[in-house]
Amino acid sequence: MLRNVKNNVSWVGHIDWELDSFHGDDYSIHNGSSQNAYLIQEEKTILIDTVWKPHSNDFVNNLKQEIDLKTIDYIIVNHGEVDHSGALPQLLDEIPGTPIYCTANAVKSLTGQYHRPDWNFNVVKTGDTLDIGNGKQLIFVEMRMLHWPDSMATYMTGDNILFSNDAFGQHFAVEELFNDKADQCMLMAEAIKYYANILTPFSPLVKNKLKEVISLGLPIDMIAPSHGAIWRDNPMQIVEKYQEWSDNYQTDQVTVIYDTMWNGTQTLAHNIAGALNKLSPETRVKVCNLAISDKNDVVTEIFRSKAIVVGSPTVSNDILSSVGGFLHFVREMKFKGKKAGVFGCYGWSGEGNRVLREMLERAGFDLVEEEIKCNWNPVSDDNLRAEADKLATSIIS
Ligand code: FEO
Repeated sequence: MLRNVKNNVSWVGHIDWELDSFHGDDYSIHNGSSQNAYLIQEEKTILIDTVWKPHSNDFVNNLKQEIDLKTIDYIIVNHGEVDHSGALPQLLDEIPGTPIYCTANAVKSLTGQYHRPDWNFNVVKTGDTLDIGNGKQLIFVEMRMLHWPDSMATYMTGDNILFSNDAFGQHFAVEELFNDKADQCMLMAEAIKYYANILTPFSPLVKNKLKEVISLGLPIDMIAPSHGAIWRDNPMQIVEKYQEWSDNYQTDQVTVIYDTMWNGTQTLAHNIAGALNKLSPETRVKVCNLAISDKNDVVTEIFRSKAIVVGSPTVSNDILSSVGGFLHFVREMKFKGKKAGVFGCYGWSGEGNRVLREMLERAGFDLVEEEIKCNWNPVSDDNLRAEADKLATSIIS
């Protein structure tokens, strides 16, 4: 079903209410998602992106009910990842030879995934244009590493729409399509989770790319990403958020993250949280037990934080796998400018804190010297409170 976006531009994507994870199990989906594809019907007919392979059949059949597929003049592939290119093989079986416009890297990613070097690829670079009739043009803007080397955005003159692909998206099902119709709290929560978990590693590039796109001076009336809500009400609000988020983002928040075997390390976590609050009542303090927390939500909390405190008991001369696996994931985010402290209980050898330090250093955190290393079970007494105060002071100062 075509759903009008603006003038002769329609949404032809798939709203995925049932999706519960993405990138394997690396990204949790709590509120659905969508794969947004767009159809432009000016003098030329242009399809921008497609959907994930499981929805390929529906996508092609729905499109067929609306238009003769042979009327599609051009296909724009803003990004080769399968959630946007998955329906290309079925579609191009119906309309072989249709010109595909994409970056040179997208030729590599599409050929590598679909093994169809015979597809009619047309490589574009930043600033290249394509006339689509009625006085309108598409202008291509390479978005290298946002978030793949093949990513690009496509700007449509006349209607002033930026088809931004993954950038500015959210894994969020919005049946109403537009940002002004979406639940505002959930929209911004999903937008920051998406940035924190997908774009943080590329923040320096995001920052430079935003400057470059703004310097082009293109009026932007609408930002149409490939996931989630289309930004039609004050679309620059999400650009401003990206400027903020890409600039070593942090707020006055400290997040205490831990897992525990017999609740000793948990007792330490709670004492540290209390000490942080006592020392700095205006600071937002959050406590996340990794055994019961969603890892992407915890990463989002780290993204918001100026510091984290991470705890694990010593287990077999190492740390709990929940904490180790999580810190491996955190390392991928390449966070910068955030402090970290460590804590943990041990019974015998007590290597846990050292392992935590090594992992956090490798993940780019600035470690404080103070730590809590507790032999056997802690007691919430004055001694522990004093230790927690010292750790809190070094974290807050
Ligand atoms: Fe939504 Fe990078 O694919």
